[in-house]
Amino acid sequence: LFSKKLATIIRDVPIEFDIQNADWRTNMKKEELGKMLQDLGIYSLLKRISELDGEPAMTQASLMEGTDERVKVVPVGSLKQVKDLVRDIVSQKYFAFDITFDPDLKGPGHLAFALDDKTARALPWSLFESDKGVPEEIKAVFENVKIKKAGHDLKDLFKNLSRKGVHPALAGKGGVHAGGLDFDTKIAAYLVNSDLKDYDLDRVYFAEFGRNIDPNPLKRAAYVNELRKPQREKMRSLDLLWVFEKIEVPLAPVLAEMEISGVKIDKKAIKKLSDSIYKEISKFEKKIYKHAGMEFNINSPQQLSTVLFEKLQLKGKVKKTGKGAISTAASELEKLADEHPVIDLILRYRELQKLSTTYIEPFPALVQKDGRLRTTLNQTGTTTGRLSSQNPNLQNIPIRTELGQEFRKAFVADKGHSLVSFDYSQLELRIAAHISGDKKMSEAFKRGEDIHTRTAAEIFGVPAEKVTPNMRREAKVFNFGLLYGMGILGLQRAAKITREQAREFTDRYMAEFSGVARYMQAMRDAVHNDRYVKTIFGRRRQFREIDSQVMEVVRQAERMAINMPIQGTAADLLKLAMIKISGLIHEEGKENEVRMLLQVHDELLFEVKDGLVKEWGAKVKEIMENIWKLNVP
Ligand code: CTP
Ligand code: MN
Repeated sequence: LFSKKLATIIRDVPIEFDIQNADWRTNMKKEELGKMLQDLGIYSLLKRISELDGEPAMTQASLMEGTDERVKVVPVGSLKQVKDLVRDIVSQKYFAFDITFDPDLKGPGHLAFALDDKTARALPWSLFESDKGVPEEIKAVFENVKIKKAGHDLKDLFKNLSRKGVHPALAGKGGVHAGGLDFDTKIAAYLVNSDLKDYDLDRVYFAEFGRNIDPNPLKRAAYVNELRKPQREKMRSLDLLWVFEKIEVPLAPVLAEMEISGVKIDKKAIKKLSDSIYKEISKFEKKIYKHAGMEFNINSPQQLSTVLFEKLQLKGKVKKTGKGAISTAASELEKLADEHPVIDLILRYRELQKLSTTYIEPFPALVQKDGRLRTTLNQTGTTTGRLSSQNPNLQNIPIRTELGQEFRKAFVADKGHSLVSFDYSQLELRIAAHISGDKKMSEAFKRGEDIHTRTAAEIFGVPAEKVTPNMRREAKVFNFGLLYGMGILGLQRAAKITREQAREFTDRYMAEFSGVARYMQAMRDAVHNDRYVKTIFGRRRQFREIDSQVMEVVRQAERMAINMPIQGTAADLLKLAMIKISGLIHEEGKENEVRMLLQVHDELLFEVKDGLVKEWGAKVKEIMENIWKLNVP
């Protein structure tokens, strides 16, 4: 009876319930909801609040009229209107602009200008293709460095303009590079808060003013103009203006040019590589089948688990998956490695397959008609200030393995050119020495010592001359791991040493480089006190999660707070160097002979015309080494 009572739903609880009142539509407090969605960062729903009134999603007609009455769209179609626009721009020496390619508008899109918050003047792109003489006047205002320009995502705007033969502020000599590009509302939002997922204009605008922008894309230029003032104020109060004006804004056109350049890919080399990997993979397959005594699908966890645990009767303790099957994740398989040689084969088989499917196979399709591959360099994609690379990501190609090296060979130079790469030596450690003021590390650098080699000598117990490139590479893992808070277990695994050794090396390192150890503690304290840390140039990263109740989250934030000033300063230095190098290329009019192609954290890749390699190699090296004076070379 008790069981029956427990299982019975009580249906006569005294609650007041009225179906009419329960309809969420009738009682919706739109303002509160809007506020809540904003706090939660649910912008996709936020944009649809107006639909709650039963209004259908925006139709094409209402799109053109828009929802924001404060901003008017004025078409610029006649020659007279163009002249008026240019005259106003010249007298104001400033404009905000945007480019639309909206398919909903069923036209070629527009170039929209705003000189104030209330009016967007929209020029159809088609004017640029006509012979009315418009292009030269518009071109002139873009290329006049004395006229300041603001936009949302200058890098992208620059790319679109240069497709039309307009080169904002790159014209002319004398390092005027990018002088006219003045304000980027996307970058400003990113500098103020670097941990958002995207920096679309509607989101940035809403966060600033608590209002939705009009869906009519022609009005965007006016919103950009409106955002400028409060954003500049914010950056001023957070001391971010230097990074904004001297690093990020001038960098945008540099990145645009790199994206336009792209890297030449030798498709045949990729084909060869992919064939040889395929052969290798089938060799592994055969060996695995032989051990298993049968053929099966190695990629199926189910079948693999049957082979390992039923057929081969492996006994090691491994985790179960959610569904109760035995896990065949790499981390679990590793535990079985000593039991059977097939495990090692499976792990290597998987590694090859991953390399092949994630990097090599998709590659040829991404190469464009001219044989070049174009990545997107995301300027607002990391919390530390580093650049990130997308579609495809060219920054994480595993170049350190043998196959990775082979892969790298598929990146080639144009005929009559060479690829020239510049990689900073121990950049982050040098920055660590500079920021922490660590005496021993600074002196070591001044003597020209190599810290990675030194750590390697200690780990492997050999004299420094006997350290091989491989040993140095493993020591690097240890150095970075230690500096960025990997923990004893991680270090032990990464450097393949025992727990005791990991502990001993860590203690010795911290005692020897006590300044670095103090720096680490100082950053931990700083993030708890201030909730942010910054680079030597003032770029910030904030840590709201530092007050979390979850210990792991707090520890993670502390580790990142130690990492960010070092990695972020490295990123700042690279960006400064890129701007200066690009400036020199333009100043000397060598755009076609010397092209910057890629940045991989502390490395720059160029394509240089044969005959200029020596001269420009020296110039680039000079700039990179002297871009900022630190207390160590
Ligand atoms: N990096 C890392 N862990 C590694 C290797 C590299 O975190 N095991 C990261 C670091 O942020 C490092 C950057 O990648 O600054 C560039 O790597 P690399 O040039 O290999 O490091 P350096 O210290 O500059 O060494 P080297 O003198 O060989 O260039
Ligand atoms: Mn390096």
